[in-house]
Amino acid sequence: MIRSSYFENSVSRETFQKINKYHEFLIENNQKLSLISKKSEEIAVKRHYEDCAQIIKYLDNTDKKILDIGSGAGLPGIILDIIKNDHNLEFSTHLVEKSPKKGKFLEKVNSFLDLNVKIHNCDVSSMENKKFTTLVTRAFKPMNSFFKIITNAQLSFNKIIMLKGEKFLDEFNEAKTYFEIKCDMHESTTNPGSKVFVIKSVSKL
Ligand SMILES: C[S@@+](CC[C@H](N)C(=O)[O-])C[C@H]1O[C@@H](n2cnc3c(N)ncnc32)[C@H](O)[C@@H]1O
Repeated sequence: MIRSSYFENSVSRETFQKINKYHEFLIENNQKLSLISKKSEEIAVKRHYEDCAQIIKYLDNTDKKILDIGSGAGLPGIILDIIKNDHNLEFSTHLVEKSPKKGKFLEKVNSFLDLNVKIHNCDVSSMENKKFTTLVTRAFKPMNSFFKIITNAQLSFNKIIMLKGEKFLDEFNEAKTYFEIKCDMHESTTNPGSKVFVIKSVSKL
């Protein structure tokens, strides 16, 4: 059983149980699939699940169709989908993950937790479904590469939410030499030095 005063105070008991089930399933599969780093297993609640959950406060009812790009173990998409009802949100959740093994893991999580997430087990550049309201991403690619990838993939969106680690400023400055970016930058609540970018528009210079 995991412990988290954050989740205990922000979601229902049923939702908290789902997060527990997700955690157990992830840890069970981590050795063969390398879903999260081995050394973060012990601190997965704060490092991974609370870190992902903090995004929820930047979503509202205009965020109807969310795509998590390079989802891996389902971070942040699965966590957002598990907690959305507790925050009165009703979006559909899509995950894109190119690894076949991780794709299978995500399908199992989806049925094991009785979620209704749509999993696109392909490279983001070959997504057939291109229209989303919201893109989310964590630990996927440097910011500039990310913008190039979504531009080439012709994805449409109104908002991007990006969790960024300590190299955020270098990445942001590099990206700004190629793209005009309108965004707000927020402190991460789980990791001092990290940021949450809420991007309203991005266009090639
Ligand atoms: C470092 S992991 C991060 C996973 C997860 N977002 C997290 O925060 O733990 C990056 C993931 O992106 C996936 N990935 C890399 N390039 C991709 C692409 N072009 N299309 C879809 N998925 C991709 C990888 O297979 C990997 O699972």
